[in-house]
Amino acid sequence: MDRFIIVGNRNLSGEILVSGAKNAILPIMAACLLAPGKSVLKNVPNLIDLKTMSHLLRIIGARIEHNGDTMTIDSTDVCYFEAPYELVSKMRASIYVLGPLLARLGEARVSFPGGCAIGTRPVDLHLQAMESLGAIVNVEHGYINAQASQLAGAEIHFAISSVGATINTLMAAVLAKGVTILNNAAMEPEVDSVIDFLNKMGARISGKGTTSLRIEGVEHLFPVEMSMIPDRIEAGTFLIAAALSHEPVTVTNCEPAHLTILIDKLREAGCQLDVYGSSITIQAPELLNPVNIITLPYPGFPTDLQAQFMVLMTLAKGVSLIEDTIFPDRYMHVAELNRLQANISLNRNIATVKGVPKLSGAEVMATDLRASAALVLAGIAAEGQTIVSRIYHIDRGYDRIETKLMKLGAKISRENA
Ligand code: EPZ
Repeated sequence: MDRFIIVGNRNLSGEILVSGAKNAILPIMAACLLAPGKSVLKNVPNLIDLKTMSHLLRIIGARIEHNGDTMTIDSTDVCYFEAPYELVSKMRASIYVLGPLLARLGEARVSFPGGCAIGTRPVDLHLQAMESLGAIVNVEHGYINAQASQLAGAEIHFAISSVGATINTLMAAVLAKGVTILNNAAMEPEVDSVIDFLNKMGARISGKGTTSLRIEGVEHLFPVEMSMIPDRIEAGTFLIAAALSHEPVTVTNCEPAHLTILIDKLREAGCQLDVYGSSITIQAPELLNPVNIITLPYPGFPTDLQAQFMVLMTLAKGVSLIEDTIFPDRYMHVAELNRLQANISLNRNIATVKGVPKLSGAEVMATDLRASAALVLAGIAAEGQTIVSRIYHIDRGYDRIETKLMKLGAKISRENA
């Protein structure tokens, strides 16, 4: 199993490039199942989760090639409707084939996702929405079985804002007969990106960027070519890495409009940020101000940057409160950061972070994707050597993170232990 050896107390400087957004690409790959023929996705990074999704789509009958940053998905021969346990247990986003398979084949059988390191993560909203569209859904022997000879438009109100349920329902509703209205839909940029992709394929979805979406069902969709949006969480991770350092860093190929709340919070912490087109230059202050955050659905502070921002606050001059309302159990990194001599206490889903003058390198263990990224940032900032084990988590969602950070001056080596 690979691990990172990080020599800390480094100053980062220079330019760092953001890759395509994992959480937009995963559902868009599934959306390709909706239109027979060859779709082409550009700006696709090399990530384990995308390989897992490719594996799943191949099982279903698609042909996939990924060369450089271009992925071609040919779903002409899609004929099999099962997402097996081995793949769903590796990656929950496998649930994204539910809507497209129902719409295209009239049937889907998807292993029921279990819990994961960031919480229990139910899929009830996905299932209720499929039922509202007329599917017969039952869960048996660990599998979700859904059937519908013809999905029919419906008005659906999501009790909770859910990225996954909104996208899955969109992908089912585009080929349903009649009109579907989604209320309290998620507004994350990844949802907008899926809407753009589906509309390019010939779908009729309006209301993008709001919580109310209207989908007029169509009979057929067509394969298309589209470039994937930049990953706002990767960009945010790099901005926070830079905020832990003392030289200017420019994060390029990002979409600053997707990062408004983070930019505000970094400014509140005392950083200077200059936005120019698709680049953001950040310069950290001598000493960071403490800043409170509460994670919320977009445009609120993203839960996927909570762990990284917590690292930043461990070195601020005072106390900050960090509350995760999306995944209240997403705090596995707290104990690991305290191993690096951070001072964080947890009361239910609120972490109190008392700033310390320095972190001290140690051996730590990555527990999930974003927690791993947080530990890497902490290792770069800490004094001495930090070893982060189980870094396979990080390869799920960051394309060569160590290579990118080393270009800025970080000292990280990958070892197979
Ligand atoms: C997506 O997960 C992302 N994953 C997550 O990214 C991200 O943390 C999350 O959205 C929130 O932004 C992908 O895009 C592949 P949700 P998703 O449904 O869709 C509750 C990462 O590190 N809920 O928006 O699963 C749920 O428990 C990750 O890249 C239900 O109760 O998240 C949570 O409290 C991990 N029932 C809230 O809604 C449901 O049926 C929002 O979750 C579905 C969700």
